[in-house]
Amino acid sequence: MRILFFGDIVGDPGIAAVSDVLSFLGEEFDVDLIIANGENATKGFGISYRDACALFDRGVDIITLGNHWHSRNSIDDFIEEFDTLVRPYNVRDYDFGQGYVTVDVNGVAVTVTNLLGTAFMKEEVNSPIVSMHDILAAAPEGIHIVDYHGESTSEKSVFAHYFDGQVSAVIGTHTHVQTNDARILPQGTAFTSDVGFCGAQESVIGFEPQSVINRIVFGDPKPMAISMDGDRCVNAVLLEFDEETYMATSVKTLYYINGKER
Ligand SMILES: [Fe+2]
Ligand SMILES: [Fe+2]
Repeated sequence: MRILFFGDIVGDPGIAAVSDVLSFLGEEFDVDLIIANGENATKGFGISYRDACALFDRGVDIITLGNHWHSRNSIDDFIEEFDTLVRPYNVRDYDFGQGYVTVDVNGVAVTVTNLLGTAFMKEEVNSPIVSMHDILAAAPEGIHIVDYHGESTSEKSVFAHYFDGQVSAVIGTHTHVQTNDARILPQGTAFTSDVGFCGAQESVIGFEPQSVINRIVFGDPKPMAISMDGDRCVNAVLLEFDEETYMATSVKTLYYINGKER
């Protein structure tokens, strides 16, 4: 079983970049399932109905989210319309949508879970560890991919080692910076601290540098703008799993610029 996982898609350049590589990657790698983190898909903050439709139309099977899952209130109107749109499981006081989803892929149950980390994050959330135990008790046996959305690489590493052998993969998201630590842990769980992002290559994590400088250095309250011009990057991981043990047999980090391997 081969699964492709795209890091946080930032704005229209991210959607365009993912669309471009999906036109050849899916076939080239013979993937069975495509997952993408869409928490920044619409102008960098949250996801609109239109952009969720665009990603699904272009071949993404499951969209996960993150701390920006509710940056647009309109998500309340459509979160339950899509079977494979997954918001963080451990958010508090929100009953709509789902924090994990199970799909049938060639007769194998594949569950995808979205969790928010706690270190250096503003959101008040339930414990990711306790939440994961609850999900494991409820989810069917099969391949289980966790999108662990957090700022701290060590927190993500602790989680992955704690659940090594119990889930198939722990894929870190949120920092938008691809780490160089993708590997299979001793008990068979694929892990990377952060898969990176998809969007404008020459940017501050997808945003136009001057608008971020104005905000961070000079205290300008204007929202940061998306970088629209220039090269576009796609950060992803290609995962392979044994369909009997459900554990990982391969994990490869991918980095494309304008559709070409970096
Ligand atoms: Fe993000
Ligand atoms: Fe995030």
